[in-house]
Amino acid sequence: MPPASDAFVFFGATGDLAYKKIFPALQAMVARGDLDIPVIGVARAGWTVDQLRERARDSIEHNGGVDEAAFAKLASLLRYVDGDYNDAGTFERLRKALGDAQRPLHYLAIPPNLFAPVVQALDASGSAKGARVVVEKPFGRDLASARALNATLHEVFDEASIFRIDHYLGKEAVQNLLYFRFANAFLEPLWNRDHVDNVQISMAEDFGVQGRGGFYDGVGAIRDVVQNHLLQVVALLAMNAPTGRDPESIRLEKLRLFRAMRPLQAGELVRGQFRGYRDEAGVAKDSDVETFAALRLHIDTWRWAGVPFYIRAGKCLPITSTQVVVDLKCPPMAIFDETLPAHSNYFRLRLSPEVVIATGVRVKRAGDEMRGEDVELTARHQHSDEKSPYERLLGDAIRGDTGLFTSDAAVEAAWRVVDPVLRDHPAAEPYEPGTWGPASAASIVEGEERWHDPQPETSAPC
Ligand code: BG6
Repeated sequence: MPPASDAFVFFGATGDLAYKKIFPALQAMVARGDLDIPVIGVARAGWTVDQLRERARDSIEHNGGVDEAAFAKLASLLRYVDGDYNDAGTFERLRKALGDAQRPLHYLAIPPNLFAPVVQALDASGSAKGARVVVEKPFGRDLASARALNATLHEVFDEASIFRIDHYLGKEAVQNLLYFRFANAFLEPLWNRDHVDNVQISMAEDFGVQGRGGFYDGVGAIRDVVQNHLLQVVALLAMNAPTGRDPESIRLEKLRLFRAMRPLQAGELVRGQFRGYRDEAGVAKDSDVETFAALRLHIDTWRWAGVPFYIRAGKCLPITSTQVVVDLKCPPMAIFDETLPAHSNYFRLRLSPEVVIATGVRVKRAGDEMRGEDVELTARHQHSDEKSPYERLLGDAIRGDTGLFTSDAAVEAAWRVVDPVLRDHPAAEPYEPGTWGPASAASIVEGEERWHDPQPETSAPC
């Protein structure tokens, strides 16, 4: 493992992401004994370090709660550099604040149009030497801009020093996809076109754009969550077993899978927009941006040829839940005196908010007749002291562990998949908030199939 970073710098210190995610993650890292290096916030707010400390306290109070001992330690580590990102003076002050640090980690929690000037100024001020850089999503807005962004970063940082965050990869349940698949030998013989009928992934949110209209209206659901979070989930579900336990082997297999995904076609996509979206602050009155997308993805490998991957994501749906259903094929012939329902056998992997793995099976009902019923065998686990995705990912970046970050090649391969429908797509159809999107989304799922809508989990986690 390479040496750990010796200073943590975060640009966008007074912003929304810092408030909602970064400060709580930093306190948790301190509490666990994982953070004991200077933490330097950078922003253009005209603040002092004491104001940044107040903001940190307020953030943590509203997002998880203050642990007084850990917070006191975090406050003592905090420094603040104020200034414009286009002003060389800001970066000279940063260089000074870094003091003796030789291997700083620079976290760019800022809009992507600022990545280039910030990276170049880090270089010019000498703050990029020996450093790592963490960049937030969205990583570009199409294949061409992602390539340009990679080229800009590579002018200053080598690939091993670049950490592209996809917070889904830091989720316990998403890591469990990989673990579940490759820690259980019985799954592998089933996990292919011979036994799997189709795979469905639904990412439903029962809320709208939550004041992020200005950002969201330039992005839409495909760029916001499909290109990154959901294609990552597909890659973990569909990749071949890595040949080794090192992060590179996993990244390699994922990359192969991304490259085998067939680029999306407009005829296999339904876009929707919830009624009321155009009244949100920052949203154009005639916006055609999608708040819902349903699509059919094909993976051109021997393992998955002919198995559709149905993906659906939307805002203002009936529930907040991300869930995968791997539908298995029906028994080849009927032996009993009943018609077997199509969806008796499946794996259901709930990724959030609960962490659940369940298997659908058919069992006989008591009685003389050979008739049965569908039941679900369920495993769940959730620990209250689980690391948040940001805690896990920032800790990994500080330690130089690239395993849960996206490589330049993978991010470009994922953009290649969605690129055609960013330009050529059907108009967004209106849908009522609280429904499962436009009715035409049903047409994405072929034949007798239908979408499996995530339902509230019935029993409490144990
Ligand atoms: C973010 C998207 O990346 O992921 C949001 O920008 C979305 O629109 C969020 O709500 C969902 O992540 P989580 O972890 O809250 O399910």
